[in-house]
Amino acid sequence: IDINIELPSVQSEAAQRVKIGIYFATWWALNVVFNIYNKKVLNAFPYPWLTSTLSLAAGSLMMLISWATRVADPPKTDLDFWKTLLPVAVAHTIGHVAATISMSKVAVSFTHIIKSGEPAFSVLVSRFLLGEAFPMPVYMSLIPIIGGCALSAVTELNFNMTGFMGAMISNLAFVFRNIFSKKGMKGKSVSGMNYYACLSMLSLVLLTPFAIAVEGPQVWAAGWQNAISQIGPNFVWWVAAQSIFYHLYNQVSYMSLDQISPLTFSVGNTMKRISVIISSIIIFHTPVQPINALGAAIAILGTFLYSQAKL
Ligand code: 3PG
Repeated sequence: IDINIELPSVQSEAAQRVKIGIYFATWWALNVVFNIYNKKVLNAFPYPWLTSTLSLAAGSLMMLISWATRVADPPKTDLDFWKTLLPVAVAHTIGHVAATISMSKVAVSFTHIIKSGEPAFSVLVSRFLLGEAFPMPVYMSLIPIIGGCALSAVTELNFNMTGFMGAMISNLAFVFRNIFSKKGMKGKSVSGMNYYACLSMLSLVLLTPFAIAVEGPQVWAAGWQNAISQIGPNFVWWVAAQSIFYHLYNQVSYMSLDQISPLTFSVGNTMKRISVIISSIIIFHTPVQPINALGAAIAILGTFLYSQAKL
């Protein structure tokens, strides 16, 4: 009898692990492709407000088509849903545009090294703004995270203050996004995929007027001409790739968030950054000093210690 009871659960646990493994591998792979095309686009066309808007627009359009053709079931939402989504969307928009501004100014690897410090922001916000207390090892794990990021920042060969601050602001905004979205997703029947679709749409509405005000169609038109003359017609495909892959990796990450705890998610997110840091250094021939790489390694090790301390 025991065997009969245990077998299905062992099997389903193994199946669940395989499923999460596939989600994680897909998430990281899509994210690497996004980061590469995003940087290629930004190198030729340095308008992060527009590229951020296009990423959200591509995702919104893809999901509207999926709903209309019934490839995906549209979610049942009410005014209350959109109201609770608003603070999540504000934080998502700020975090997204700030990260893109950062990547337009510094190496992709540097943005992601600073972004690997996100757990430190999470602890500090929870401690000082929400009054949550953590065990001592959690605070101790912040030392390598903050120290490693700081070492990487001061030894970065192409340091730029806007690039650094963009990644820091993105960290702060995404901590708020995660806090608000945990509240917003709780007890709701909307799936991870549809939740992210609605988030993209609301963020697109919020970001568009700011993108027009900060950069604007005239600047974009001139920049576009310039990029096409430099790169050729392929440039359009680069823009399409960065926009579509942005949506896909986020969609998969929200789908996996449905299946796992926020803590497992944040470990997955850190491992994702390792793949992005290494692949972007190789592809863009980013100059890295050993001491700079040491800082990144210490920060990443710190996020693992943090996840262990938080268990
Ligand atoms: C963005 O543009 O939103 C950032 O690249 C996202 O950063 P993430 O790696 O935290 O999703």
